[in-house]
Amino acid sequence: MRPKRAKHFEAMSELVPAWRRRTFSIAALRREAQRVLPRPIFDFADGGAEDERTLHRNEAAFSELSLVPRPLRGSAERDLSVELFGKSLRLPVLIGPTGLAGLFWPGGECATARAASAAGTIYCASHASVVPLETIAACGASPRWMQVFVYRDRGFTRDFAERAAAAEFDALVLTIDNQLTGNRERDLRNGFTIPPRFGPIALAGMALKFGWFIRMRHELRRVTFGNYVDRLGASDIGTIAQRMPSLLDPSLSWRDVDALRNWWRGPLLLKGVLHPEDAKEALARGVDGIIVSNHGGRQLDGAVASVAALPAVVEAVAGRIPVLLDGGIRRGADVIIALALGARACLIGRPHLWGLAVAGEVGVTHALELFRREIDRVMGLCGITRIAEIGPDLLMRR
Ligand SMILES: Cc1cc2nc3c(=O)[nH]c(=O)nc-3n(C[C@H](O)[C@H](O)[C@H](O)COP(=O)(O)O)c2cc1C
Repeated sequence: MRPKRAKHFEAMSELVPAWRRRTFSIAALRREAQRVLPRPIFDFADGGAEDERTLHRNEAAFSELSLVPRPLRGSAERDLSVELFGKSLRLPVLIGPTGLAGLFWPGGECATARAASAAGTIYCASHASVVPLETIAACGASPRWMQVFVYRDRGFTRDFAERAAAAEFDALVLTIDNQLTGNRERDLRNGFTIPPRFGPIALAGMALKFGWFIRMRHELRRVTFGNYVDRLGASDIGTIAQRMPSLLDPSLSWRDVDALRNWWRGPLLLKGVLHPEDAKEALARGVDGIIVSNHGGRQLDGAVASVAALPAVVEAVAGRIPVLLDGGIRRGADVIIALALGARACLIGRPHLWGLAVAGEVGVTHALELFRREIDRVMGLCGITRIAEIGPDLLMRR
């Protein structure tokens, strides 16, 4: 006969949903997302531009760096909090802007924003959210940031900034690496369209992803670019998506950064900086924060891995404004490496979408909790009690 205690734990483990038992890491969460999502939608998030060299480089570059622990410093209690623009965060991992989160789960943006708030971190809304930014603000997520682009019609960019201010977003993020749309060949191969159109083959595939289809069947008709519909008068997302390349202005320049600086009074961050001279220029023009990023390898294939570009950018700004990093963050140790190289915090893109796809708000909470636990464990094993103690002495190349 089995002991009573064993039976008790068996019963307890049955209460934990199967997906949660399987997703003990971000990599496992990705596999679970792949299992539940229709292929074109999984690939839309998972894929990168062209040969996906930069996508893979982002993750691989973390393996070039090793941690050199000093366990004798006593680290029984660990504090993971960081400060950013006057706000204290309980976790140095932010939710980065990702378009069309509402394709992964009904109400995907609000679900993610709520999970971020509960975890004590920042949610950055994307220009391409399914619901308008005002709806995200009404979900009560705090702190919240808003990501924008520069459009040929500069009035539209200004509109975004003014709407974000009216909806009390805490910071504005100007993404600078997306003025031309990246060439994502998985999307081409899958015939991925926005909104997803289902031919007989796609429908057959959909039947295999029953849970997603049942959840999303009514939503699919409502999936749109919520921030654009009023302005462009086109409720058909397909029309807006097709017009996007002609809306964005590849002649983007520092003058646009100056203009945005005038329109937006709160913290302004540039996302997509990889060159130290651009970081210096941003500093000179009154930008408040830099996000070192290559858009998760979704734009310029062949671009440097973001973590490889980080040290030069950190050196260029010399501690005068916070530098953040995204791209390839999959483990708590990756976050610690980025912080040791001088980042104030990291953002995640795909990992939270995988959580969202698997279990909505609970899934995003789970993804953030995986990071929290791993960061805490790495700090403990390295003999670190506070984030401020993390420095370059913790690292060795290879
Ligand atoms: C599905 C998807 C949509 C994205 N949409 C946006 C966007 O609208 N604006 C933006 O600045 N970045 C966008 N990004 C890039 C992310 O903000 C982030 O830079 C990138 O995902 C980080 O890399 P990671 O996915 O390896 O964490 C998107 C990324 C993904 C995966």
